[in-house]
Amino acid sequence: KSHKKPKEIELNESLNKFYIDRLLNLPSYHKVWEFLKNRNINKDTAEEFEFGYSTGEEIEKVLEDTLIEKEIAVNSGLIKNDRDFFNGRLIIPIRDNNSSLVGFAGRLIENVNSPKYINSQENKYFKKSKILYMYHKTKSIIQKNDFAIITEGYFDAISMYKMGFKNIVAVLGSNLTKDHAFELFKSTNKIITMFDMDKAGEKATISSIDLLFEKGFQVAVANYDAKDPDELTKKHDKKYIAEILKKSYKFHEYIVDVKAKDYDLKNEFAVEEYLKEMAIWYKKIQQSNRFEIMEVFSEKISEKIDREKDFVKKVLIELSK
Ligand code: GTP
Ligand code: MN
Ligand code: MN
Ligand code: MN
Ligand code: MN
Repeated sequence: KSHKKPKEIELNESLNKFYIDRLLNLPSYHKVWEFLKNRNINKDTAEEFEFGYSTGEEIEKVLEDTLIEKEIAVNSGLIKNDRDFFNGRLIIPIRDNNSSLVGFAGRLIENVNSPKYINSQENKYFKKSKILYMYHKTKSIIQKNDFAIITEGYFDAISMYKMGFKNIVAVLGSNLTKDHAFELFKSTNKIITMFDMDKAGEKATISSIDLLFEKGFQVAVANYDAKDPDELTKKHDKKYIAEILKKSYKFHEYIVDVKAKDYDLKNEFAVEEYLKEMAIWYKKIQQSNRFEIMEVFSEKISEKIDREKDFVKKVLIELSK
């Protein structure tokens, strides 16, 4: 049984060929190559990840070539205000988990007042809540290594991959969803989150580990001395980063530490509020029947607030009722 490709996908594929061709034919002093050079991306890597460049003319040519209706391009968000939406941007093609070319990201290459990244319009095929960047390429490696590393951004995943950490994916700037978790679970039940080391990354980490733990994953959190994994790979070598991954926080230890930052634990009332929050997690762990984790969790809290472990356990049990 043969299936004809949807026109949306066909259009993306044809357009991407033009974008790639454009990039590869630009001289090395062009600003897009300057941008890539600054990010340690050479021609081979640009080709491997199918990077392209839009000068604004490509979409019209593709529509002429393929006879695909302009309406499809407009609905896919490839044309806005009658011009190529990605004009002047580096093009990062986005394939879904089955390798279909479902959308694009366009990254600014200059410092101008405009969003750093823009994406194709979401449609039936391009859904950020379902797609993990690079998963189509890395899922067999994730299966083999039996763990996955999750990052926030395209360049985080690419840099880690280049360094040899190929069991990598990135969320497309949105939160990790149940659909993402469901997809990953087909390949492994072990995950290291490696989101950015800022407040947004911290929020993404907490919500991800909540979701992943509930789904039954073993979750750990990478803790590192850089803004994001891309910058980490510029700062340190492979051996150092392997060590970072190895020393990842167990999720329950991460929660104890990260939430403690929100409370003044010298204050009795704050300790009580902190314990209330810990009790919510205690209950989650209990409900998952991971009793060995409950012990370590209580132990870690008892160290954090400098109280007897038995006392902490009693309070947690009481508060989580
Ligand atoms: P670089 O500066 O290229 O290294 O980007 P980054 O990946 O470090 O970006 P950041 O940490 O700010 O955001 C993480 C991810 O969120 C990006 O890789 C994008 O997928 C997404 N993102 C960030 N900003 C925007 C935006 O303005 N629009 C859209 N659509 N996505 C964004
Ligand atoms: Mn941002
Ligand atoms: Mn970020
Ligand atoms: Mn980042
Ligand atoms: Mn970055």
